[in-house]
Amino acid sequence: MIDEILPAAVTSGESFWDAADAWLFPEEETALGEVGGARRREYTTVRHCARRALGGLGFAPAPLPPGAGGAPRWPDGVVGSMTHCAGYRAAVAARRSDVRTLGIDAEPHAPLPEGVLEFIALPEELARVGRLARRFPEVHWDRLLFCAKEAVYKAWFPATHVWLGFDGAVISPESDGTFHARVLASVPAQQSSAEREFAGRWLVRDGLVLACALSPGHV
Ligand SMILES: CC(C)(COP(=O)(O)OP(=O)(O)OC[C@H]1O[C@@H](n2cnc3c(N)ncnc32)[C@H](O)[C@@H]1OP(=O)(O)O)[C@@H](O)C(=O)NCCC(=O)NCCS
Repeated sequence: MIDEILPAAVTSGESFWDAADAWLFPEEETALGEVGGARRREYTTVRHCARRALGGLGFAPAPLPPGAGGAPRWPDGVVGSMTHCAGYRAAVAARRSDVRTLGIDAEPHAPLPEGVLEFIALPEELARVGRLARRFPEVHWDRLLFCAKEAVYKAWFPATHVWLGFDGAVISPESDGTFHARVLASVPAQQSSAEREFAGRWLVRDGLVLACALSPGHV
């Protein structure tokens, strides 16, 4: 499903349940620590998905432990992203020579809890989401905005190592399944070349919202 919103250079793996044959490398085990239950299952299954995405690029299975800020560490020359929510796990990967950075997020397609939209949205985003909700009431635009923001953060952070709050980027979703993001946060001088614009695509299907944010020129 997620491949529908990915450009050709990006490979993916996804699962709608936890894979019984999924396994972890020792360094992934160490990073996970002594946790069990749902957290262990999502962490393991999403790495199973990620190894499928890596395989699609021609890479052998490799350890993908969390690194700085929780972002997964990918093999040299690879960029990627992972997401999990109830009933869904997905990972995407691309060669760094093809895509500078990317991020994905999945959420249940349901309204955000009371008060959350006002917390995460900038005034212009609130206005836009309100307009879209009046025209296309079948989409939970508040959740879609949240999902796109998380995808942008997952694309932004590995490229900059700079924290981004919910007011750190303006997201402009369109009804045609695309969105645009402009980061407002400042970055350290040595990272000033970091691109602040992201192009994105979104999809609502089977009770889920999926979003992918990419450095421009890839959507
Ligand atoms: C990190 C964050 C984006 C994760 O999103 P989430 O919806 O809670 O959870 P998801 O299941 O979709 O994603 C979790 C995966 O994201 C990845 N991830 C975690 N931190 C990350 C980071 N700093 N950069 C990139 N990817 C990260 C990991 O692979 C993680 O899975 P894992 O721990 O099993 O490896 C979220 O918890 C967060 O901190 N958000 C605040 C920052 C933000 O979104 N700002 C908005 C800017 S406009």
